[in-house]
Amino acid sequence: MSFNRGHHTLHVKADLFIENRNRLLDAMREHGDPNGFIVLQGGVEKNRYNTDAEDLPFRQESYFFWAFGVHESEVSAVIGIASGKTILFPPRLPEDYAIWEGQIRTADWFKEKYQVDEVIFNDQYAISDYLSKQIVSVVYLLEAENTDSGEVLPPASFELRPGVTFKRDTALLYPIYAELRVFKTDKELEVMRYASKMACDSHIDVMKSMKPNMYEYQGESVFRHHSYFHGGCRHLAYTCIAATGENGSILHYGHANAPNNKMIKDGDMCLFDMGPEYNCYASDVTCSFPVNGKFTEKQKIIYNAVLKANKAVFEAAKPGVRWTDMHKLAEKVILTDLAAAGIVTGDVDEMVEKRLGAVFQPHGLGHFIGLDVHDVGGYLGDALPRPTEPGLKSIRTTRSLEERMVITIEPGCYFIDGLLDKALNDAELSKFLIREKVDEYRGFGGVRIEDVICIWEEGNENLSKDVPRTVEEIEALMQQ
Ligand code: GLY
Ligand code: MN
Ligand code: MN
Repeated sequence: MSFNRGHHTLHVKADLFIENRNRLLDAMREHGDPNGFIVLQGGVEKNRYNTDAEDLPFRQESYFFWAFGVHESEVSAVIGIASGKTILFPPRLPEDYAIWEGQIRTADWFKEKYQVDEVIFNDQYAISDYLSKQIVSVVYLLEAENTDSGEVLPPASFELRPGVTFKRDTALLYPIYAELRVFKTDKELEVMRYASKMACDSHIDVMKSMKPNMYEYQGESVFRHHSYFHGGCRHLAYTCIAATGENGSILHYGHANAPNNKMIKDGDMCLFDMGPEYNCYASDVTCSFPVNGKFTEKQKIIYNAVLKANKAVFEAAKPGVRWTDMHKLAEKVILTDLAAAGIVTGDVDEMVEKRLGAVFQPHGLGHFIGLDVHDVGGYLGDALPRPTEPGLKSIRTTRSLEERMVITIEPGCYFIDGLLDKALNDAELSKFLIREKVDEYRGFGGVRIEDVICIWEEGNENLSKDVPRTVEEIEALMQQ
């Protein structure tokens, strides 16, 4: 059995997850106790507040999914380190479940679908009883803190039969597990290519559909429909940012307080940052384009500066190169073009050093992407501590690049009144800014050009290569 949404969608076999489990086992055999057992717990479907309506279609927790590919709610698992044996513990469902929710799957169904060694329904003490029959030196549990949000994934919890105890370890597993997730296997890359391709196709449909006087959310709607209808992508990897005009300078536009509501004016730039996920693997693609399909000279200057930065980073981001240096490279390319356009003036290296770049691009250049859009591991490996300077402090990794890392390249240039005013009143930064020119761009919004990249020694791979990127390509597409 494979995961798919019909013949026109990608078929993902269980061996993607067998390979992930084997990688985890190899690492734990090297660093852990051979008589140790790993216990993991999947996500639980939730209702909306106090209602009996599901909050959103359930989506599995990413660490659990990485190892098992299991889509169902409330499943736990045990892996024996020495034996390599994997046991799934799905919930024991009541008979009525079949009436209201659908077929109750048998143990054999789970075993066959997820290619595990054994399936035991998770009665009260099932995990405790299973472990009691083994020689267990330690139980390894995953406690994972997200370095961007600070949210913590709590370790698996299961009831112990009275009188039974096991030694617990919540320290070893997390850094090993997260580090494995940073490097994508060929099988994972195949799914990520598909998700990014669906993002590109959906962005193209949006670009062809947008016209002045439409609403931002209608762009979001076209995107959602295309990726689901044609790609089988039930979930998006993050909330759609369908920002136009001055909203393009609001970095995380699209959330509840700014829900893609504006009517799009003729002459507005659209900054559409939207990505579906497929079988939980994320995409994250941003397209910036004029709603009427024709760039003004002013729009071209900013767009081409950002595109140049995107391309410069794509070429320079080789194994061994530190991501913080790529962030500064993007700033340098953008500031050079802003200087050529008379918006800033002075020595570009000094601008970068004094952090002028952060006035125009306050966010980080990009982030790892995988099962999560902002994927794990950004501050493991050879990462340096999170910088404290403007712009750089928002960077989601400080690591050196290595093959099989998948990362976004998403330079941007925004005209944010608050930041411009502050810089114009700053003794060190104001000398670089040509006030009249800066004022001409107020209300412009912003441009971001975001691709999903896999790092390879022989030259990087652009997973989102199928969207039009040059001014000419975009204008040609939109005027079709
Ligand atoms: N869509 C969120 C981001 O680009 O990181
Ligand atoms: Mn991104
Ligand atoms: Mn994005």
